[in-house]
Amino acid sequence: MCGIFGYTGKKEAQGLVLEGLKHLEYRGYDSSGIAVQNGFDHLAVRKTDGKIKRLEEILKAHPLKGTTAIGHTRWATHGTPSPQNAHPHLDHESQIAVVHNGIIENYFDLKKTLEEEGVRFRSETDTEVIVHLVSKYYKGNLENAVRAALRNLKGTYAVAVIASHEPGKIVAAKCDSPLVLGLGTNESYLASDVSAVLEHTRRVIFLENGDVVSLSGGKFQLTDLAGKPVSRKTNVIDWDVARARKGGFEHFMLKEIFEQPEILSAILKERASGSRIHFEELKISETKLKRIKRITIIACGTAYHAGLTAKYIFEEFTDIPVWVDTSSEFRYRDAKVGPDTLVVAISQSGETADTLAGLREAKKKKALTLSVCNVLGSSLAREAHGVIYTHAGPEIAVASTKAYTAQLTVLYLLAFYFAQIAASGPSKKLAGLLKEFIRVPHLMQNILDRYKRDEGQWRENAHDFNVRYHAQLEKYFNADPEKRKRSPNGFFLYLGRNINYPSALEGALKLKEISYIPAEGYAAGEMKHGPIALIDENPWVICIAPQSRTYDKMISNIQEIRARGGCIIPIVTEKDEAIRRLDPIYVIEIPPVSEIFSPLLVIVPLQLIAYSVAREFGEDIDQPRNLAKSVTVE
Ligand code: G6P
Repeated sequence: MCGIFGYTGKKEAQGLVLEGLKHLEYRGYDSSGIAVQNGFDHLAVRKTDGKIKRLEEILKAHPLKGTTAIGHTRWATHGTPSPQNAHPHLDHESQIAVVHNGIIENYFDLKKTLEEEGVRFRSETDTEVIVHLVSKYYKGNLENAVRAALRNLKGTYAVAVIASHEPGKIVAAKCDSPLVLGLGTNESYLASDVSAVLEHTRRVIFLENGDVVSLSGGKFQLTDLAGKPVSRKTNVIDWDVARARKGGFEHFMLKEIFEQPEILSAILKERASGSRIHFEELKISETKLKRIKRITIIACGTAYHAGLTAKYIFEEFTDIPVWVDTSSEFRYRDAKVGPDTLVVAISQSGETADTLAGLREAKKKKALTLSVCNVLGSSLAREAHGVIYTHAGPEIAVASTKAYTAQLTVLYLLAFYFAQIAASGPSKKLAGLLKEFIRVPHLMQNILDRYKRDEGQWRENAHDFNVRYHAQLEKYFNADPEKRKRSPNGFFLYLGRNINYPSALEGALKLKEISYIPAEGYAAGEMKHGPIALIDENPWVICIAPQSRTYDKMISNIQEIRARGGCIIPIVTEKDEAIRRLDPIYVIEIPPVSEIFSPLLVIVPLQLIAYSVAREFGEDIDQPRNLAKSVTVE
């Protein structure tokens, strides 16, 4: 969690750091700060709680001059969001400033020792120990002091440090939190995520664990923690910068929803030709994959839902049994994985702490590991035996949309690839499937075009929901206490069956994340074992019911809801008549598609429902409260 940005060069640093932090705000946004070095003997700091916008206002009123600076946007772990706890943190003499992303696990013991040595702490953060340690070891050489300080730390960190006595220099280091070095002409950048530096340079170095880098203008020196020089590859990134901007959309989330057909098409073009599937960067041979007896998928949040869907796909097209775990559960149970298991870790960021820990656990148990990641060069991508990139481009909105459908697309192809290997070559069935798959992005586009055409109607429906929702709440709170006890207030239930059960979970998650309305995803067949007790006129029940082998069963489930007065909003295949007869409040249509690919289509209206409700409620869609895009803490 948290974002770091640094600049050293000839330009004024304040504006560059501020812009960089804005690109990283998805990593946390409860407070932020900047430290600028202005000639010899001078460090100036501005920090505040709240979003970067507030920092920007402060800097507008009280600008900082200087051409070397470090900045930070925070997601609180130790200590509440406050100006005192915001980074950068300063040593006693205000000669050294530090920004940090990660968690120092032994900070309590270090703090105690430092306090005994006379240091007075100003914040409740774990980070502050770092700056006091650097100060303790500082004897005129910042690199040595940082290395000495870091050798005391247990935990995870990406840090950047500046000192008043060393103009133009930033020293930075990494252990388990991401840090990227951007190489310019007579200038250098540092950032937690490569997308933040792309506007300035395409040449980047992904730092590795244990790396310490010293930057001065356009020069840099890389060493390990002992001071031994190390060398790292320079990468040239060819991402489209425009993708990282809103491009005329009201929110990043909506823009990212609309990018999906194009991304899916590109993935299919890249990975499937004729009736063959290929993964160039996979790094795991067909022979090794052929030896796999089972697959365990680990992931968190939305990526976990992609994993759940993948189980249905793999088990339909291969003979390999699949288990799916949330990473946080996998890492603490004695999961039965071994050399015959492929552990697939799915993660947009490739930095989620639980998924990384799960991957390491799997490697310890000698499993073959494969990561499915979006962020190039991320920790998960580097540490797994093999990697498949989803190439969805930078995803900025905290609620994941395009990364999800890109993950699904890659997972379909991976399952088909396994089938291809098992069949020792292309099969007719696979060729037919691929032919249909290639059409899916067009069908998705069709749903989006309809949304554009009917946007007014979507807004009206969301407004109608808002009115009903608040009327319901009012009724609830004004009801006499006896009745109130019995009546739950407004919430959403998402029902799906078979391969669209995970779609129900993902639809509910999207709504919870950005509109804060309670929502529950359920397997429709399980309704009768509990949730049906919730049904009265109150919940809105989103029924995912495209044409499928369980369509008739789904109709029975919907009838059970209607019989108890429940309001239904079905998602159906065009021209569906049976469900329309059940008196739904609204009906959402998707184009006809084989059941196996339906999760890629039903998810689009589910994303748009969450988006429309949150927009109607006036919520902060791209940066919902309490969440962060990349969760690098346990
Ligand atoms: C956070 C985000 C979710 C995301 C999850 C997993 O909770 O808010 O949107 O699905 O992390 O992230 P990953 O980067 O591993 O896919």
